[in-house]
Amino acid sequence: MQTIISAQGLTKIYRVANNAVPALVDVDLNVARGEFCCIVGTSGSGKSTLLYLLAGIEQPSRGSITILGERIDRMNQSQLVRFRRDNVGFVFQAFNLMPTMSAQQNVALPLSLKGIGGFERNLKARRMLKTVGLEQHLKHRPAQLSGGQQQRVSIARALITSPDIIFADEPTGNLDTQTGEDIVKLLADEVRRHGKTLVMVTHDIEKAKYADQIIHIRDGRVGTVEMNQHREEEYHEQTV
Ligand SMILES: Nc1ncnc2c1ncn2[C@@H]1O[C@H](COP(=O)(O)OP(=O)(O)OP(=O)(O)O)[C@@H](O)[C@H]1O
Ligand SMILES: [Mg+2]
Repeated sequence: MQTIISAQGLTKIYRVANNAVPALVDVDLNVARGEFCCIVGTSGSGKSTLLYLLAGIEQPSRGSITILGERIDRMNQSQLVRFRRDNVGFVFQAFNLMPTMSAQQNVALPLSLKGIGGFERNLKARRMLKTVGLEQHLKHRPAQLSGGQQQRVSIARALITSPDIIFADEPTGNLDTQTGEDIVKLLADEVRRHGKTLVMVTHDIEKAKYADQIIHIRDGRVGTVEMNQHREEEYHEQTV
């Protein structure tokens, strides 16, 4: 299996006033191409920090990160922006939608950054919003949507460019059990059907049941790592 994401000795120390806050300490991990990896841990354990580092949104204090064969910890800001635009979809815990844009415009935004024209952009955004059950809310702005609906817009935005790697930070945190289950299935489906790699953060171990690998984080360090072999066998059974 080809490793698509690899981190060694990953450490992030935030400075708050005169205090050093070690959010992540000496994390090693490997994620294979086509894998669904779950990061599980309690509040404040460093899950979002880890995802930000892996996606190149924040720079590590120490350690290396190799994604798709490239050392992203050595990239400058403009290289990182390009790298993210071309390879990564990110679902933020706090959505980070543009408040003045409609749902459709928010979802179409990453296509616009890739220079794709208005007609194709809107068509694709409409289809993607339909997939997440929001075809009736294309013109709504974030403030006119519920938390769960904003979360689904944010997921649609992350998937619109069909990125190789999807990072999702608590993508079901604001959803009821059924909608949350549907969203995890939708994300897992991207992985199984389209060969994407998904790294999903959750505090809810129940949500990790579809994962191939479960990484437990505690106080900024990796605890147990569970490999779920049968997922792959099940998948093969379904496809042959
Ligand atoms: N920008 C920041 N500046 C200073 N400290 C930070 C910053 N971001 C996170 N931290 C600290 O790093 C630690 C890990 O935070 P992080 O957001 O990664 O946790 P988490 O596991 O995602 O928690 P949650 O489940 O509540 O989202 C916490 O102690 C937090 O206070
Ligand atoms: Mg978090």
